[in-house]
Amino acid sequence: MELTNDLILRAARGEKTERTPVWLMRQAGRILPEYRAVRNSLSGFIELVKNPDLAAEVTIQPVDILGVDAAIIFSDILVIPEAMGLPYEMIEKKGPWFPNTIKSEADLKNIRIADSSSDLGYVIDAIKVTKRELAGRVPLIGFAGAPWTIFCYMVEGHGSKTFSNARKMLYTQPALAEKLMQMITDSTITYLKAQIEAGANIVQVFDSWAGILSADQYEQFSMKYIRQICSAITDVPVTAFAKGAYFARKSMATLDCETIGLDWNMDIKESRELVGPNKTLQGNLDPCALYGSNAEVEAATKKMLDAFGPDRHIANLGHGVYPDIDPEKVKVFVNTVKEYSTTLRNS
Ligand code: CP3
Repeated sequence: MELTNDLILRAARGEKTERTPVWLMRQAGRILPEYRAVRNSLSGFIELVKNPDLAAEVTIQPVDILGVDAAIIFSDILVIPEAMGLPYEMIEKKGPWFPNTIKSEADLKNIRIADSSSDLGYVIDAIKVTKRELAGRVPLIGFAGAPWTIFCYMVEGHGSKTFSNARKMLYTQPALAEKLMQMITDSTITYLKAQIEAGANIVQVFDSWAGILSADQYEQFSMKYIRQICSAITDVPVTAFAKGAYFARKSMATLDCETIGLDWNMDIKESRELVGPNKTLQGNLDPCALYGSNAEVEAATKKMLDAFGPDRHIANLGHGVYPDIDPEKVKVFVNTVKEYSTTLRNS
């Protein structure tokens, strides 16, 4: 199916575009009342993730309602631990919870490398339904968590500010940690390939907990595996987003990927210097900027666009959109990117 809007793909590959493409991390779910309506028709989040028709519906809602230039498949990064044999629950207002965690070498016997067709068939089906219903309107983004971030949940068992149990393992049982991360990496590579085979046009790797490691540990325990993933994906552009890893920007420039995601703490000009000219940058408006007035959202968005310049930029927030943001403010952000980035090119 030919895409009628392929701006994000062209921007990722460094081709010139008529305007800057825009989408938002966590645009599916979280903010739209239309999402809540679908979500409340089922007993829980995981049921929605496992329902390909409804997952496709909430994937497409932001394209119709917010006017973004890409859809991101409605799923979660935690489907990988589940497919490896470590199931999770999503507790309302609290977040993920794993009844079992990885503590010792013996626990590895209970997990396996995920089989994408049998264990993750519901995501693959959701991608196929979404592609059919999008009918080429915009590209579809596939995604997975980075091995380090997935490891955090498999060891800690729930969200945490410090993930000190996960980080403790890097000091006390590094060999076990690396074994587990390699299993996650192998699972992730076949999973992303299956997403691409089913129709994902670009994939993003989310390293949400990158920022809690030291620079040295980040190379050893995270970049090493992200590097394997980037090298294994050859058919579509790859985006690597490492939240808080300002110390790794130079190293990320050597990844075999097209786009590097920036969070809002990362200075745009400095990031461009560190990363060099050969990668597209994605980001990086502070999600809290959307609590401002329309005029303030507009001004902050223009300032961001000026700093990135017209080429090799995919506009986004610096992290996922917050749940209580007014969708109207998101529209102001999206429309400002579309209009202002067009005038930037004509002036
Ligand atoms: O971007 C999208 O809109 C696509 C869907 C998507 C979800 N999760 C749906 C979701 C994506 C890309 C994710 C990624 C994800 N999940 C990350 C990495 C990105 C980031 O924000 O750092 C992480 C760390 C998770 C793990 C996770 N899932 C947590 C900590 C939580 C609870 C808090 C929260 O973020 O809402 C979830 C639940 C979750 N994942 C929801 C949604 C829409 C909310 C659950 C609900 O609707 O009840």
